[in-house]
Amino acid sequence: MDDHLLKTRAHNLTSISHNAVLLADPDCPGVSANWFEPHYWRGKATPVTAGGRGGAWFITTEANEMVLRHYLRGGMMARFSERRYVFTGFQRARSLAEFKMLQTLREKGLPVPRAIAAYAVKCRGLWYEAAILVERISAAEPFPESPNLDQAALWQEIGRIIRGFHNEGLDHVDLNCDNILVAQDQVYLIDFDRCRFRIEGSVDASWKQSNLDRLRRSVEKRCVCIPDKRREQLWQHLLHGYCL
Ligand SMILES: Nc1ncnc2c1ncn2[C@@H]1O[C@H](COP(=O)(O)OP(=O)(O)O)[C@@H](O)[C@H]1O
Ligand SMILES: [Mg+2]
Repeated sequence: MDDHLLKTRAHNLTSISHNAVLLADPDCPGVSANWFEPHYWRGKATPVTAGGRGGAWFITTEANEMVLRHYLRGGMMARFSERRYVFTGFQRARSLAEFKMLQTLREKGLPVPRAIAAYAVKCRGLWYEAAILVERISAAEPFPESPNLDQAALWQEIGRIIRGFHNEGLDHVDLNCDNILVAQDQVYLIDFDRCRFRIEGSVDASWKQSNLDRLRRSVEKRCVCIPDKRREQLWQHLLHGYCL
């Protein structure tokens, strides 16, 4: 990646050159474009094996425990270009959008990881690449891997947490089991790429049902170790937590 960054600390958060933007939490000094390259970290970067599509690394330094994620396409377009997106302005870069969304969600008191930094670099032609660094939630695992998977209380809590996000208008367009992390008894949502805030009070709330339907399909796939009947009961506990 190009590292021609011009620091503009006046804006506190943004560093810009003609072809790259870096947005960083001011409490994390020293962030540079190199931080978004796994090989820069040598042995300190380990590919994430649970959940996700293979573009994420855990990074452990003395100062931080982080997750680095490169934005990768799925589906048909991945064959064409796995990591490049059409550039329509840095304002709309996916990494920057997710960084700002994480900050907003945390300000609202919702359980999401802290955003450390976001990067976008314009490539030749119409394309750009993007990456984000977030704080690693310690001892967290995707919810199907939780030792409490068979506990009604966990499913109810997941429902309650999802409802909290919905109450703030957050439409999580990829609400699957791997985007729900459990650490001790705390439930977090992650992976807000392409998510959006819906206008409060909007009559059409079908997006909320779509989120739940998406999760339901994921539960059917990821929680096969639970017998069908029990899985259905647990799902009802999730809905109960959502409706409380
Ligand atoms: N903040 C975090 N703390 C701990 N683990 C994380 C965190 N963010 C991501 N992970 C792990 O990395 C996986 C992939 O990350 P995610 O943000 O969902 O990207 P994607 O699904 O696009 O690959 C998650 O399923 C989870 O296992
Ligand atoms: Mg994910």
